[in-house]
Amino acid sequence: MLFPVAVALFAAAAFAPRHASALTRHDFPEGFVFGAGTSAYQVEGAVEEDGRKPSIWDTFTHQGYSYNKSTADVSADQYHHYKDDVKLMHEMGLDAYRFSIAWPRLIPDGRGEINPKGLEYYNNLIDELIRHGIQPHVTIYHLDLPQSLQDEYNGLLSPRFIDDYTAYAEACFESFGDRVKHWVTVNEPNIETIGGFDNGRLPPQRCSHPFGENCTRGDSTTEPYVAAHHLLLAHASAVRLYRDKYQATQRGQIGITLLGWWHEPATNSSQDAAAATRMNDFHIGWPSLHRFMHPLVYGDYPTVMRSRAGARLPNLTAEQSKKLRGAFDFIGFNHYLVVRARADDSAFNLKQRDYYADASAIADPFEDIQAGGLEYAPWALGKLLDHLKLKYGNPPILIHENGYSDPPKISGKIVYEDDNRSEFLQDYLEVLYLSIRNGSDARGYFVWSFLDVSEFLFGYRSRFGLCGVDMNIKGRTRYVRNSARWYSGFLNGGELRPSGKAYTAA
Ligand SMILES: *[C@@H]1O[C@H](CO)[C@@H](O)[C@H](O)[C@H]1NC(C)=O
Ligand SMILES: *[C@@H]1O[C@H](CO)[C@@H](O)[C@H](O)[C@H]1NC(C)=O
Ligand SMILES: *[C@@H]1O[C@H](CO)[C@@H](O)[C@H](O)[C@H]1NC(C)=O
Ligand SMILES: *[C@@H]1O[C@H](CO)[C@@H](O)[C@H](O)[C@H]1NC(C)=O
Ligand SMILES: *[C@@H]1O[C@H](CO)[C@@H](O)[C@H](O)[C@H]1NC(C)=O
Ligand SMILES: *[C@@H]1O[C@H](CO)[C@@H](O)[C@H](O)[C@H]1NC(C)=O
Repeated sequence: MLFPVAVALFAAAAFAPRHASALTRHDFPEGFVFGAGTSAYQVEGAVEEDGRKPSIWDTFTHQGYSYNKSTADVSADQYHHYKDDVKLMHEMGLDAYRFSIAWPRLIPDGRGEINPKGLEYYNNLIDELIRHGIQPHVTIYHLDLPQSLQDEYNGLLSPRFIDDYTAYAEACFESFGDRVKHWVTVNEPNIETIGGFDNGRLPPQRCSHPFGENCTRGDSTTEPYVAAHHLLLAHASAVRLYRDKYQATQRGQIGITLLGWWHEPATNSSQDAAAATRMNDFHIGWPSLHRFMHPLVYGDYPTVMRSRAGARLPNLTAEQSKKLRGAFDFIGFNHYLVVRARADDSAFNLKQRDYYADASAIADPFEDIQAGGLEYAPWALGKLLDHLKLKYGNPPILIHENGYSDPPKISGKIVYEDDNRSEFLQDYLEVLYLSIRNGSDARGYFVWSFLDVSEFLFGYRSRFGLCGVDMNIKGRTRYVRNSARWYSGFLNGGELRPSGKAYTAA
């Protein structure tokens, strides 16, 4: 048996008797979904098996750009262990599993034939989840663009992406929509466009001076806006298709998931306050709220972006604008960090302005992450939800990612005792609960991640898993961390015991 300890550990996840004031899952609205997630490239492994072809992430990691030159060639190997993983999810008591379909596994060339082995894998995974009473929440596109589309027409930079994406999305609706009732079109279009086309830190690493010595083949002044535009139109196109052709019979919901970093002024100066507002306005955790939320809610880009990026910001036709407006049943947010924003007014006078210069703000979490300056701040989730409520008409929200990372080993030992993670989860869940009580329409919460995976920015240096994975042995043995036991207890009616520190640093 792969998890000799799992049953015993979860069985032992007893919890203290409930105090009058303590929160439990039953204090959340009826139907509120608790889950955990992963994504295809990060968790599946088997990158060259059964007809899968490379994505831009395979290319990137194989060129040695990932941390420690790691790849996700095997990673947690869920492709071969999905049954064991679903069993573990069931034992943990998850309502839902959020995962993504690998486009280069289902349609290896990006368009055209469906790969029967890919189809079989996702059918098996979905059936296994449903057999165990776990809702599949499926992301259609999670950063892993087929390399062939990158080679053929520069991927997101071409409007041809929209048609290929829509055909791929339709293959997903057609193949899995009888069982999948929660679809996300695109994950984190905001980080993908900034990382891939502005600062070049993520594939396809397109950028221009002054972003890095190797950034010579892009144009940071225009390409982030073009890539985001096409992602947004692809999203709208898939939503339109789903609504016109599938939703009435399949009765599912469809949305988009944005990275939701919250910007807070770095100092008390009015300039920094303005810079933080601008970053949230421009962007919220990357360009999202404005680049993505704003068109989705209002049908156009925000005025501040129009006035600053000018003709570099693609125009939306009346038809596109109509298609975008209201093109979601929910918005997913991946929320991790608060980012301290500083004004950089000189940047606005640069001859070649990129996204950050357009916003005239220094608020690059990539820099902070590299410098080890990750700042977790549960109150920032409250601010984000409040902002969405006040500014964007309080849309239905799913918190699609939120989690805590440990190094793989502390003092040479595998980390089972991850009290910080349990504390983290309880603090954020308390804030989420209070936001809901204050009128936010949050409907679900997914821990990132269900188990250790290859992290896009950190390789295997950071472990977010409720369950650990021994990446050094062939069978990729899973082990159950204390936080998984804690979450399991909570899912079974146990109490939240927040640290009381969630609101201290606002
Ligand atoms: C640029 O590319 C060279 C050669 O591939 C590599 O050694 C160097 O680390 C790269 N620099 C950055 C900042 O990625
Ligand atoms: C802002 O001002 C308050 C008091 O007015 C002070 O307590 C706080 O530390 C200041 N914050 C920053 C980031 O400077
Ligand atoms: C968008 O439209 C404005 C005015 O209608 C025009 O000046 C601008 O050049 C257009 N931008 C693009 C990228 O076509
Ligand atoms: C837990 O968090 C504290 C402070 O937040 C930190 O000092 C400590 O190293 C963390 N423990 C582990 C095991 O990461
Ligand atoms: C509750 O919502 C109101 C406005 O919608 C906001 O001003 C207030 O700060 C919120 N309170 C909390 C605790 O989030
Ligand atoms: C990074 O790679 C080196 C050499 O392969 C290895 O010894 C080390 O454990 C790796 N570090 C992490 C955090 O995986």
